[in-house]
Amino acid sequence: MKALFLFFLCAAPALLLHAQPSLLPRPRQCEWDKGSFRTDRPYRFENLSGMDVRPVANLLERAGTTQTTRLVRCERSTEWSGRPEAYRLHVSRDTVRIAATDEAGFLRAAQTLRQLMLGERLKCCRIADFPAYSWRGLMIDVSRHFFDTDCLKRQIDLMAAVKLNRLHLHLTDAAGWRMEIKRFPRLTEIGAWRTDSLWKTWWNDTPRHYASAQTPGAYGGFYTQQELRELVEYAAQRGITVVPEIEMPAHSEEVLTAYPELSCTHEPYKQADFCPGSEATFQFLQEVLVEVMQVFPSAYIHLGGDEAGKASWADCPRCRQRMRQLGLHGVDELQHYFMQRMARFLEQHGRHMLAWDEVTAPGLPEGTAIMVWRDASTACQAARLGYEVVMSPGAFCYLDSYQDAPPSQPEAIGGYLPLAKIYGFAPSQGLPDSLRSRLLGLQGNLWTEYVPTQHQLEYMLYPRALALAETGWRGDESKDWTDFRRRATGVMKRLDEQSRTGAFDLRTEQGERREAGIRISHKARGAQVSYGQPYHPRYASTGAGALTDGWRGGWSPSDGRWQGFIKGDRLDVTVDLGRLQTVRKVACDFMQACGAEIYYPASFRVSVSSDGAHFTELCDRKYPSQRTVQPDIRTCCWKGRGCRARYVRIQALPAVWGGWVFTDEVVVK
Ligand code: ACM
Ligand code: ZN
Repeated sequence: MKALFLFFLCAAPALLLHAQPSLLPRPRQCEWDKGSFRTDRPYRFENLSGMDVRPVANLLERAGTTQTTRLVRCERSTEWSGRPEAYRLHVSRDTVRIAATDEAGFLRAAQTLRQLMLGERLKCCRIADFPAYSWRGLMIDVSRHFFDTDCLKRQIDLMAAVKLNRLHLHLTDAAGWRMEIKRFPRLTEIGAWRTDSLWKTWWNDTPRHYASAQTPGAYGGFYTQQELRELVEYAAQRGITVVPEIEMPAHSEEVLTAYPELSCTHEPYKQADFCPGSEATFQFLQEVLVEVMQVFPSAYIHLGGDEAGKASWADCPRCRQRMRQLGLHGVDELQHYFMQRMARFLEQHGRHMLAWDEVTAPGLPEGTAIMVWRDASTACQAARLGYEVVMSPGAFCYLDSYQDAPPSQPEAIGGYLPLAKIYGFAPSQGLPDSLRSRLLGLQGNLWTEYVPTQHQLEYMLYPRALALAETGWRGDESKDWTDFRRRATGVMKRLDEQSRTGAFDLRTEQGERREAGIRISHKARGAQVSYGQPYHPRYASTGAGALTDGWRGGWSPSDGRWQGFIKGDRLDVTVDLGRLQTVRKVACDFMQACGAEIYYPASFRVSVSSDGAHFTELCDRKYPSQRTVQPDIRTCCWKGRGCRARYVRIQALPAVWGGWVFTDEVVVK
């Protein structure tokens, strides 16, 4: 025992010396050499690049150490001219050489040096590195819940550690306007405060109320322009551009309560959409954007554009007049006019519009970029029209989804998006080669309806943001999940050591529903299914064979294994076993995800027949409605001593009228 202890005592420094630091994103080329450069011994610092190398200097500059041959040197590289953020790093026992094409390259090199640092030692290595994508973003929704600038600065530090370079702030939405606009003070006097701190309580408390900062119990907040300027500067020093989003024409209840005259009906609280028939709307938005552009130097200003209901436009005299005057056919063309006009305004000020993919249509200014949140087909359409594209599809990039088995997690909006799935995301997939040059990169979006605290924010962001950082930097090819997971664990450990994050602990991950990975055998497998009510085409799974293919669904209702029913009596299917057989058990799994209006059955009825015409009921179970906060799955089952049957009919009604019923397999034994 003593000998073992002595061995570890002697070997520990050597192990440390040879330990490979976790580099994430993984550099393009990296060769490890023996030994390390000791930063606690004297060396000289030289900057021969003619560029601002402060990020490296902040890490490695030392004063008063000229009497030494040991050296840290920064040089300009011409090797990758025209390729931003590229750098080369050579660490030997006596020297650290850093060559970069631009200041951003020195910044990225400094971020790698931080990851190479083990105590006072830099592990010897040769690295050559540059990013695959120029846009490696995270969106934080500061409207649904408000996060102060200290919190955002901390997120910037975490992002910078893994070379993410765009922080998109969703600054405005029904739940709160978050930016001081000097010309329109009511936006923050009224629009920034609401009557309940939790979004869910406030949202369900109809009619929803806004408040003022002085109202007892008011929740909210906003950033002053000075705070935002400081934030922009803080981010820029870390290689991150802050991209502001000002929502239009929809998601604007807070604006239209503060300034009801900008809606079609002029009624506070009632409207989500601006009135595009009114010149006052454009005047207002342009004046807002002038202040936004004064604070945010970002080339792109995000103008939202998603999920416009446009319900009031068709009946509004001003909107009708506008459509008549411009020869527009319907409210969709009116929205296009709206976005086109605002995009042109940005172009006149030397900026470009970035907007959600609903705005994709011919005729937007050339510099427009589309942020894809639905699927790759919208990306193709946007790229074909000549727009730039940022990929942030919900299925891979919505960080408000559950990251582990929902029953084990705090309440989230729904879905299931574990780290491995994000890591598998390839932004260029689905885009033909000819359109790939339009792809700026990718972005993870954290909507915060169910994210009320900084701890929860970091829990949802990390480690999942690391997968986006890796793909954003390394691109879509040569992925190695095991290696990535090891490095992600190492990086999170280091970040936690520096300052404890709220990150999800990967060691506790339960993973996908176990049943989903196992194909089961049973008497109905491969049997024909006839439908008394059709399944919904959006949740068709594999079609008519899905309920007897032996495959069961996982934690995501849209994983292609679950079949969804919304029509009539919901689930009413009959399975033909092909011949008379003894039936002892009939079971179906049902998903409940209340946020998606998917409910367990209120009743589960099984009947059997030998001829397909005359059925005998085996059971008609009733279940009390039981809403669960997290999605979950339950089995409904009939078991008996055995009966002879060829046809088995299953009927199930949802616990909440109007809701969906989701099942994955009719298991007959
Ligand atoms: C969005 O999720 N509505 C962009
Ligand atoms: Zn109108």
